[in-house]
Amino acid sequence: MDRHGRLLQLFSYLLLSARLFIHTYSDEDFIRQPPRQLILTSHHGKDSDPQQVHISLVGKDHMKISWVTSHEHVKSMVEYGKTPGIYEASATGEHTSYQYFLYRSGKIHHVTIGPLDPKTTYYYRCGGSGPEFKLRTPPSAFPIEFVVAGDLGQTEWTASTLTHIGAKDYDVLLLPGDLSYADAQQPLWDSFGRLVEPYASQRPWMVTQGNHEIESFPIIFPRGFKAFNSRWQMPYQQSGSKSNLYYSFDVSGAHIIMLGSYTDFDANSDQYKWLRADLAKVDKSKTPWTIVLIHAPWYSSNTAHKGEGESMRLAMEEMLYTAGIDIVFAGHVHAYERFTRVYDKKADQCGPVHVTIGDGGNREGLAMLFEKPRPSISVYREASFGHGRLRILNQTHAHWSWQRNNDSNSFAADEVWLSSLSYSHACCKNSSFECTPLTTQNDEL
Ligand SMILES: *[C@@H]1O[C@H](CO)[C@@H](O)[C@H](O)[C@H]1NC(C)=O
Ligand SMILES: *[C@@H]1O[C@H](CO)[C@@H](O)[C@H](O)[C@H]1NC(C)=O
Ligand SMILES: *[C@@H]1O[C@H](CO)[C@@H](O)[C@H](O)[C@H]1NC(C)=O
Ligand SMILES: [Fe+2]
Repeated sequence: MDRHGRLLQLFSYLLLSARLFIHTYSDEDFIRQPPRQLILTSHHGKDSDPQQVHISLVGKDHMKISWVTSHEHVKSMVEYGKTPGIYEASATGEHTSYQYFLYRSGKIHHVTIGPLDPKTTYYYRCGGSGPEFKLRTPPSAFPIEFVVAGDLGQTEWTASTLTHIGAKDYDVLLLPGDLSYADAQQPLWDSFGRLVEPYASQRPWMVTQGNHEIESFPIIFPRGFKAFNSRWQMPYQQSGSKSNLYYSFDVSGAHIIMLGSYTDFDANSDQYKWLRADLAKVDKSKTPWTIVLIHAPWYSSNTAHKGEGESMRLAMEEMLYTAGIDIVFAGHVHAYERFTRVYDKKADQCGPVHVTIGDGGNREGLAMLFEKPRPSISVYREASFGHGRLRILNQTHAHWSWQRNNDSNSFAADEVWLSSLSYSHACCKNSSFECTPLTTQNDEL
């Protein structure tokens, strides 16, 4: 293209953006937040000091400590205890590393510690030296509070979301995909790990993959997920899964299922068969709340990524419905949207509530355009950055809120009380799962 053509292209692009801008800013009362700059986070300690420390749940009472060192000789060993500076226990684990074109990762350590007491603070040190970290294990019974944040990235908005997340207590963070937005630039994975460390080293971060984790390349990396699988190892073996891309775990009285939107999900796939077996094992008397995370939403009235979750919905929605799943969280679309309980595109009091929470703060900015008119099953939708909080109070009641970032404040812009399907009078009558109908319970729609 010549200079003229390029200018023309630029001009029409500017014109188009201006039109989008005017169109979407004019008809809502809240001024949406424009994208913000990338933050690069560097390592200031010694080569042997741990960096990018993050923790994840393993089984009922263990925790995996993951970190990176640029020094090869650091041992994959964690010392820990209940008093600062006094480590009465230690554990050793594994390490890995990977190469991606010219990039070579540091030594990535994974050490599982435990058994640990519930709702207890532990102090720990990685690799025998360097700074002390502390973590708190989740409670063994309700109440429990989850933070849900998707499509995080590493911009100033990400930092704002993280500040709001850290400003109020929580037990476990759930991330429905799209972590670092490294997009094959591997040093950005390291930078992301450092940015989230103050949060992810203190509370378990349980993640599943998004499209930005794929990073495949023909012939050289055909299967993708090299950085994701090396750095963010989740406890998939414990739930009988053969892949880090989908797994489940129990915490307090919740069964959380992390699905993979970017691996096979059709009826012949390993993921499908694993999901069927996993759902069959759910004991609603022990885990009355069942929650699913995916990346590409099955329900969305945003124009961004329209239809991308549809084939997975067609393959798996019935299975989730008959298992009485309470909530499905998705990311991918950079906005917030909450649906009523739905099944097969219609309101259904025995279906899950679908929530899109892809508004963590990445560099791509917000998905501003929602379809008009708003479909009746969509209860609340807004293109702003933020995070969600799910506080499960007991076997029947949970409170969901969406905390919109508003500069230094976060603000509960949307909130709703939810009741679990395992105790729903209407849905217990003909459910295929074990169920205790409570006649006193109101079923919200
Ligand atoms: C569960 O929590 C809700 C909200 O606090 C309360 O109204 C309800 O009585 C509780 N149910 C049980 C079984 O404790
Ligand atoms: C956002 O923050 C500003 C300044 O603190 C405050 O005046 C405003 O009410 C907030 N708006 C919302 C919706 O939280
Ligand atoms: C149970 O039956 C009701 C009404 O007949 C129906 O609306 C609902 O979808 C059914 N739920 C399940 C889980 O089969
Ligand atoms: Fe995405």
